[in-house]
Amino acid sequence: MAEVKEESKFYPPKEFVEQAYVDSREQYESMWKQSVEDPETFWGDIASELFWHKKWLKVNREDFSKGEIEWFIGGKTNISYNCLEAQIKKGKGDKVAILFQGEPEDDVVKLTYKEMLTLVSKFANVLKKKGVRKGDRIAIYLPMIWQLPVAMLACARIGAIHTIVFGGFSAEALRDRILDAGAKILITANGYWRSGKNVSSKANADTACDLCAAQGHTVDKVIVVKRLENFDVPMKAGRDTWFEEELAASDISDVCPAEWMDAEDPLFILYTSGSTGKPKGVLHTTGGYMTYVYATFKYIFDYKDKDVFFCTADIGWVTGHSYIVYGPMCNGATSIVFESVPTYPNPDRFWQIVEKFKVNSFYTAPTAIRALMKEGEKWPQGRDLSSLRVLGSVGEPINPEAWLWYHKYIGGEKCPITDTWWQTETGGILICALPGAWPTIPGYATLPFFGVDARALEPRSSGDQPAKDVPVNEQGELCIARSWPGMMRGVFGEPERFFNTYFVQQPGFYFSGDGAIRNEDGYFRLMGRIDDVVNVSGHRMGTAEVEAALNSYTTAVAESAVVGFPHDVKGEDLYAYVILKSGVEGSDALKKELVAHVRKEIGPIASPGKIQFVSGLPKTRSGKIMRRILRKVAAGAIDELGDTTTLADPSVVDEIVKGRQ
Ligand code: PRX
Repeated sequence: MAEVKEESKFYPPKEFVEQAYVDSREQYESMWKQSVEDPETFWGDIASELFWHKKWLKVNREDFSKGEIEWFIGGKTNISYNCLEAQIKKGKGDKVAILFQGEPEDDVVKLTYKEMLTLVSKFANVLKKKGVRKGDRIAIYLPMIWQLPVAMLACARIGAIHTIVFGGFSAEALRDRILDAGAKILITANGYWRSGKNVSSKANADTACDLCAAQGHTVDKVIVVKRLENFDVPMKAGRDTWFEEELAASDISDVCPAEWMDAEDPLFILYTSGSTGKPKGVLHTTGGYMTYVYATFKYIFDYKDKDVFFCTADIGWVTGHSYIVYGPMCNGATSIVFESVPTYPNPDRFWQIVEKFKVNSFYTAPTAIRALMKEGEKWPQGRDLSSLRVLGSVGEPINPEAWLWYHKYIGGEKCPITDTWWQTETGGILICALPGAWPTIPGYATLPFFGVDARALEPRSSGDQPAKDVPVNEQGELCIARSWPGMMRGVFGEPERFFNTYFVQQPGFYFSGDGAIRNEDGYFRLMGRIDDVVNVSGHRMGTAEVEAALNSYTTAVAESAVVGFPHDVKGEDLYAYVILKSGVEGSDALKKELVAHVRKEIGPIASPGKIQFVSGLPKTRSGKIMRRILRKVAAGAIDELGDTTTLADPSVVDEIVKGRQ
């Protein structure tokens, strides 16, 4: 890599630096040093800014050789209490907590901290009335409406573990998650607005319940939010009830004391794709997660009391959990929940919302920036974006072109951009810029957050080899040398999978699955996944899952291999190589059927962008698919196929190259 030129650095403006919590690299270095050398004091002090019913005995204990991690040992708290009563006690009761903007422009609901407390307490009582107890799992399949944070905080309040399923997942994907979590209660909506149309959530929820029943699991209760008026959905007697009627019932009190949870009691499960098998139920616990999202939100967005925060993610993904609901609310912030898409009715919807609510911090994904960039700068230029003071990016590497556009047209060249690297597993942001503390370089996430000991390591063939950092500016495996409070604690129901996925590849470290380089300033640049996970529009998709979905189309498909390839808006897209059963003819109609099938099995986000029918796949003599070759062909890099002589049948490569889509 070429040496970083001084002119490619973007310094935070003086006015920003002057008011920032961390205003220099030196200050960061000394805080970072304390955070890793003396976590007891560093994290103890930060956690003390939150409310604890009982203080912890010891800040942390970890043993990566066993995959064991504990934070705030012996402490008792409740994150719902910290998001609600603790804020009211600080005098923020009348401040807007959740600012809901529906797709229809005039559909705005502003809920103050006090109002949220009432709604959350009532809904927690509804759950209790339905028999929910601490430790029970509750599946939530809701669109981006204000009732979603209410449901989350109600679960957290009584110690029920929520598992939120992104609204874009199919009934089959919802079934898999309900079954894996063993959820007996499902919270959904009749439907929601999407680009001018009414879309049903309940239809998928009903199908998922039927599919669960077919596997011997009963969903006892389905609570349905009436998001859409005049949008009838069937309600199953004895099982389905309306959220609004439940809340209004005369026996539902608006007081529900928070259950004091052990710091290590589970808070939520969130499913995410891995390189093998079915999605993993990433388990996060209470005290560490709460402290980590609180701290990261405060420092990384340099959050100040008056700030209005707009994160465009869906709460169905971890970004929404941590930076729409828990992080902002633990800080007493005003957080926007936006129902719709960036391009409806026009491609300036985000900018219109920024103007309307005088948003100060804006957090989005590179894929959205690239999509909006294509629409031209006239859209942001037509809006007053002067309220913005800090911008964030998340979900995938941000290409310098998109970074520069974001900086110029959205940030007006005055807002620091923090490119934040993290994962569902990490709970909160691990590598990013502290916006007032050092210059950024487009494409670089820069430095690890407090407590995060990030390293780019050489691959190791065995655990006996010592860990070794790669030289400056060379790619290595991004690993973390110690635990941080927000780290996942397990894979729900699969303890060995947790250990084998994250602690074996680089013994003594958490293995992220991403590649990274570090430059001479110590800045990290993320290079994408190094495993079989593809990042499509910032959504993480395991290729094994898509292959399983294709292979389940048993009338036509014999075998498949799916890889990622570069896409100018989505970042990456999926390319599927499919071997058909003998006698089945490949056609465009069949491609459509396969796409429809994958959408049904997983959801639209998993639809392959390209499908190529092949007669064979490049396999080694031991039968392993050489994905490297498939990736190169998909990317059009046919001059870089490398050595193919070890293949069982090298001629398949020629056929694949010729038939490239
Ligand atoms: O490959 C990295 C990419 O997204 C993966 C995590 O996906 P998920 O668990 O769905 O969480 C996404 C939101 C936190 C990572 O392994 N990724 C995330 N943020 C960045 C990124 N890649 C590069 N730069 C980022 N800022």
